[in-house]
Amino acid sequence: MRKTMMKLTTALVVASTAASMAQANEVEVLHWWTSGGEASALNVLKQDLESQGIGWQDMPVAGGGGESAMTVLRARVTAGNPPTAVQMLGFDILDWAALDALANLNDLAAQEGWDDVVPEALQQFAKYDGKWVSAPVNVHSTNWVWANKSVLDANGIAAPTNWEEFEAALTKLAAAGVTPIAHGGQAWQDATVFDAVSMSTGGPDFYKAAFIDLDQDTLASDTMVEAFRRMDVIRSHVDDNFSGRDWNLATAMVINGEAGFQMMGDWAKGEFLNAGKVPGEDFLCFRFPGTADQVTFNADQFAMFDPLGDVSGEQSALAKAILSPSFQSAFNVVKGSVPARTDVSDEAFDACGKQGMKDLAAAAASGNLYGSMAHGHAAPAAVKNAIYDVVTAHFNGEYDAETAAQELADAVSIAQ
Ligand code: BGC
Repeated sequence: MRKTMMKLTTALVVASTAASMAQANEVEVLHWWTSGGEASALNVLKQDLESQGIGWQDMPVAGGGGESAMTVLRARVTAGNPPTAVQMLGFDILDWAALDALANLNDLAAQEGWDDVVPEALQQFAKYDGKWVSAPVNVHSTNWVWANKSVLDANGIAAPTNWEEFEAALTKLAAAGVTPIAHGGQAWQDATVFDAVSMSTGGPDFYKAAFIDLDQDTLASDTMVEAFRRMDVIRSHVDDNFSGRDWNLATAMVINGEAGFQMMGDWAKGEFLNAGKVPGEDFLCFRFPGTADQVTFNADQFAMFDPLGDVSGEQSALAKAILSPSFQSAFNVVKGSVPARTDVSDEAFDACGKQGMKDLAAAAASGNLYGSMAHGHAAPAAVKNAIYDVVTAHFNGEYDAETAAQELADAVSIAQ
C-alpha cells in the first residue's frame, strides 16, 4: 500500500489547488456507515453539524472494515478532488499523514485539551510527527460475541467462558437444528473472527508477537496451527449461505432467532438497538470465550483532507463536534462503541456499553489492550491484506491448518 500511495504524491500536489466537491459552509464526508444501526449513529453527527448551520454532503461507500471506502478515497485523491473528511482506521491515517495529505488540527486540539482526554492508544494513530491529524469518534472492539437470549435459554446454554464451553454450545445448537454461528463470508469478517480466535488460543503475548511484531516463528507456530483448527470448527458451524453475506445480515439472523451467535465488533450492537432489542432481555453480549481480560480495539477517526495543511472553518467545526463530550456520549450510545475520551460518563450507556467502557479502561491499565489486526490497528494495510488472504483462503477450504500457518508466515514476510 505504501508503494501505491507514494505514487499518489504527485496527484496530491495537483489536488492541493483543486477545491473539494463540498461548497462553502458544507462538509463532504466519505464513510462506510451504511447499515441501519450505523446510519442512525451517523444521523447524530449530521444533526449536530446542521444545528451549527453546516451542511452535510454524504459520500457513503458500503463495505464493512472500509476497504472499498479506501479504494474510492484513493481514486478521489488521484482525481485531485479529496473529500472534506474521511472515516479512517489506524495505520491508514498514518499512511496518509506521511504523504502530507491531512490538515493539521493542532490549534483546535490545544484549545480543546485533546492531549489530556484522548487515550494514548488512540493518540498513536491520531497524531503524526507531533501533529494531530484526525479526530477520534469512538473506540470499538472486535472480541465480542452477540447471542440470541431465547435461543440460548431454549437450549439450556449459558454464555460460554472458554473455548471448550463454546464448542459444546455450538454442538448443542447444531443438534437442535439451529444455525450455531451467523457469519458473513467476506475477508474482513473472517479476519474479525480470527482476531478473537487468535487472542483466545494463544493469549495476549502470542497475539502481539504475531500481528503487531509480525514475528515469523509465532506466525508459523503450533499455536497458530491450533488457531486455524479452531477456525475450522467455526467454519463447520456456519450455514450453507454464509458466502459473501453482509455482516448486518448475519446480525439479523441472531436478532431473528435463526442463529445462536455472531462473533463481531460492537457495531453489531447498533443493529440490535435499531431493531428495538434490549441487552440482557433479547440479546447477550460477552467477550469471546477466553478473552475476558483482553480488548482488541479499533477506533474510527475522521481525517480532514487538505494537502496544504490548512484546516477550514467547516473542518474545524466537524472535528470539534466529534470530540465534544456530549456528542461522544450521544453518538456512541447508538453506534455500539464507547467514547474516545476518558472523561465521558457511562450513565447514558446500556449494560453492554458500560461493560465495554469498563473493559477498555481495565485492559489499558493492565497492558491487555491491543490494536485489532482485522481493522487496521495492528499492522499497515499491506500486511493486513496479506493476512486477510490467507485467513479467507483457509476458511474456504483452500489450506489445512498446518499449511495456513506456514502460508501466513510467508505472506506476512513478503508483504513487509
Ligand atoms: C468500523 C465500524 C463499522 C464496521 C462495519 C469497522 O471497521 O470501525 O465503525 O461499523 O467496520 O462497517
